[in-house]
Amino acid sequence: MSKPRILIARAIFPDIVDRLRQHFDVQDNPEDVIWSPAELAERLADKDGAFTTGSQRIDATLLAAAPRLKIVANMAVGYNNFDVDAMTAAGVQGTNTPDVLTETTADFGFALLMATARRMTESEHYLRAGNWTKWSYDMFAGSDIHGSTLGIIGMGRIGQGIARRGAFGFGMKVVYHNRSRLSPALEAECKATYVGKEELLRTADHVVLVVPYTAASHHTIGAAELAQMKPTATLINIARGGIVDDAALAVALREGRIAAAGLDVFEGEPRVHPDLLTVPNVVLTPHIASATVPTRRAMANLAADNLIAFFDGRGPLTPVNQPVSTTTAPR
Ligand code: GLV
Repeated sequence: MSKPRILIARAIFPDIVDRLRQHFDVQDNPEDVIWSPAELAERLADKDGAFTTGSQRIDATLLAAAPRLKIVANMAVGYNNFDVDAMTAAGVQGTNTPDVLTETTADFGFALLMATARRMTESEHYLRAGNWTKWSYDMFAGSDIHGSTLGIIGMGRIGQGIARRGAFGFGMKVVYHNRSRLSPALEAECKATYVGKEELLRTADHVVLVVPYTAASHHTIGAAELAQMKPTATLINIARGGIVDDAALAVALREGRIAAAGLDVFEGEPRVHPDLLTVPNVVLTPHIASATVPTRRAMANLAADNLIAFFDGRGPLTPVNQPVSTTTAPR
């Protein structure tokens, strides 16, 4: 019997491509070309499965051009690149990579918070530019992490990891806001108190965003929310571009309405709002929160495992939808 055909949409670890070749007839993309939606659709026209990396849009138009497609395995925990309803209606399974990146991403969220509150990149630029000629009492004075109030919006696995780091590692008071409240046991485990969004914005010294991107979470933080925050507060976005109104944030940073921001994700990335590039009090990183070698390998292997388990008939390991028909036969 011929092997199922799969497309790997971006360059990934070569040994994991080799692993997939043992199970599938693979078309990969070792040059890491960014295909347009039409180029992606053309390559998916004869494929049974796809390995995506979170930035390839899978919608009704693409699905109509890919009649054999039965599964798309995203190498990311977020899957806002999927039109889940369209995939479910077309009988296409979607999968993501939860759990394997939780602690790594929580580490990064905390690192970005520390770098932002303690003005690390701003002061490094100053030093590298040769401006450090004398010490002064208020040079790059930032805000404290220990003992301060940490507000987390989005209390899934990564948010909980950040809460534990804050509460137990740094003695922070942790408040959170989420669509649904955690169980009392989980709240105790994270030492976190549920509050309304407005109270969180008003009282937190550091606000960390870890919500999935949906139409409802678009611009969770805009001009109105920034105005509610303390002028000494920091804002950290490791969730998704579009959760923050980047233009409004640039204005708030420039006018000192909040102290600083740390951003790993951007609206329209890899483009970054030009005003964010010129304000000093923002730390900018290129969507690397899960980027350690072991974690990126675990994510790629989990996406591969999803494809293998699905076509073996064992079912997907980490599904994001439940299409009525998850048959491996051609659609
Ligand atoms: C990264 O942003 C992910 O969703 O895994």
